[in-house]
Amino acid sequence: MIFQQGVDALARAEPLDRPADGLQGWVRRAYRAAGRAGGRLANALYGTWLGHPFHPAITDIVVGAWTATEVFDALDALGEGSVSARCADVSLLTGIGAASLAVLSGLTDWQHTVVRPRRVGLVHAIANISITLLQGASLALRLLGARRAGRALSGFSYGVLIASSYLGGEMVGKYRIGVNRAPVDQVPQQFVPVMAERDLPENQPLRVEAGGVPVLLVRQGDRIYAMHAICTHLGGPLPQGTLVDGAIQCPWHGSRFDLRTGRVVQGPASFPEQCLATRVREGQIEVGPPAGLGRCRHEPAGATVPEAAQAVAAPAG
Ligand code: FES
Repeated sequence: MIFQQGVDALARAEPLDRPADGLQGWVRRAYRAAGRAGGRLANALYGTWLGHPFHPAITDIVVGAWTATEVFDALDALGEGSVSARCADVSLLTGIGAASLAVLSGLTDWQHTVVRPRRVGLVHAIANISITLLQGASLALRLLGARRAGRALSGFSYGVLIASSYLGGEMVGKYRIGVNRAPVDQVPQQFVPVMAERDLPENQPLRVEAGGVPVLLVRQGDRIYAMHAICTHLGGPLPQGTLVDGAIQCPWHGSRFDLRTGRVVQGPASFPEQCLATRVREGQIEVGPPAGLGRCRHEPAGATVPEAAQAVAAPAG
């Protein structure tokens, strides 16, 4: 409870805004300067290739590896021989490698945060960078033969890691960073009419409601595409976005989702968007449930029912 009060005080601490401005500006400039390679690296660190945020996946390895280090260090201190010492070194090195990736991915995600999660994230980042450096120093001490000092430094770092992990949990649990913001469990249960086909212009994203679910609707050529209207990253309004190469680009931080499948083409989003099936009946566009994530039927606009039946048998698209 006292610890949580301290975390809440951190979130309210306005003096943290200035260093946060500086660090965020530095991260953004670094990615801009790296150009296309920077974009590819950012996508890898967001986890767009994984369909899941990369940061929590890699931090699991960090915590696991350094927990193993503590166990092997304890056995080593009890005089269980050199095997424990070697295992401690290997798990420590594994943790340092994973922590370096975790720091990079954390900073990459954090650059899009504002106000309270940005303050908590700043402290979390500083703690994790410090822990990684301390564990590096611990490894150096061990290699120089000062194992007892190395073990002590790792033990201290591990304690700080536990506290910092709590801050990471706060970022996810309270501020919903790294959480899918789209209403994933809400899809229309059956096809429902949403608007007249003749009123949907070409290449102009529109927001409609289908059975209470906010939906993005886009006509391109003879196809009408539908997907959840809320960005999976931080909840941006996709109907206010722009169309780029068959994808919708979120107006907030630039994530792009493939209109046919909902797949993330460009981060910072990592979770795909839920696409929905479309068809036209009696001049009305109808939106309905998908066959599964990324498997949506988009019948040609104006198709007769027999044509539509053929489209159902054809691959999505
Ligand atoms: S809300 Fe961040 S990219 Fe959409």
